Amino acid sequence: MIPSAINLITFCLDLLAAVTVVSAGESGLKSCLPSQREHRVQGGELHRFYRGPLRDHALVGQAYRNHTARSHASCAGECLRDDACKSFNFCQDGGLCQLNLAVVSRNMSDLFPSNGCLYFDERPHGKCLEYETTEEYKYKFFVLPPPKEGEPYRLDFAVKGKEDAIFALSEETNENNLYDIDIAAWNNQRTIIRARKHSVHFHARVDIPGIMSEHEYRRLWLTYDSWTIKVGRGHEVAPFIEYHDDSHRVHVKYIGITSVWYDVNWIFYTYCDE
Ligand SMILES: *[C@@H]1O[C@H](CO)[C@@H](O)[C@H](O)[C@H]1NC(C)=O
Ligand SMILES: *[C@@H]1O[C@H](CO)[C@@H](O)[C@H](O)[C@H]1NC(C)=O
Repeated sequence: MIPSAINLITFCLDLLAAVTVVSAGESGLKSCLPSQREHRVQGGELHRFYRGPLRDHALVGQAYRNHTARSHASCAGECLRDDACKSFNFCQDGGLCQLNLAVVSRNMSDLFPSNGCLYFDERPHGKCLEYETTEEYKYKFFVLPPPKEGEPYRLDFAVKGKEDAIFALSEETNENNLYDIDIAAWNNQRTIIRARKHSVHFHARVDIPGIMSEHEYRRLWLTYDSWTIKVGRGHEVAPFIEYHDDSHRVHVKYIGITSVWYDVNWIFYTYCDE
């Protein structure tokens, strides 16, 4: 897959072929599921993690939990929080949010017309999200996806580039109030956590050269839990940098990524079934 342009997140869709095969003879579905598989993921639009929607349809007999939700986006949030949830129905009337154990892209037989309901199909498998940031040094924000029940927020990702893969953990989708995590800064020599972009005040700093590579993706992870930020490498359990903010300055709701000096390619694995 070709890494997408700036500001565009491309969902990998190895299951598209399966959808097309199964849906032969189901004339409605093929035209309803979007064939263009690129979405802009904007703050709060959690339903964008799923395919669809298929309007005025619901998957019947597969719900293992029913909720009341304000919107299809918050219903998507419920589904994201639970590994068992493979797809969901959201019905405007009464805000019924049904979490399903199955997906239509594997089996059409439980899909029925249902006025006022939206059916969202499974999250794409594979690498999930690929992204490219340029040297323009402006954060691209997206909503912090909800962590699994009882676990800290965890982002599994890989980066490729000469230096400076930069994260913001932010309260808003601007640069007013955030933590700035600059991986492989200063010619790929140091990683720092600071109070804001450009700040010369460091919360934490480690000198480990060569964390990034311009020739290959390097796998990393980042966790955030109650004002504690940790970043680690690959399958190492211990972080190589860590910071706890006693002052509870930022109420983190968004994550931003950016780069400076050189382009950085990113792959996010957090919502993939690897
Ligand atoms: C969820 O709601 C549907 C439709 O109202 C109902 O048929 C089903 O039994 C409910 N499932 C659960 C697990 O509560
Ligand atoms: C599809 O779902 C129906 C009804 O739940 C089930 O009887 C059938 O075995 C399923 N087919 C496949 C291929 O999973």
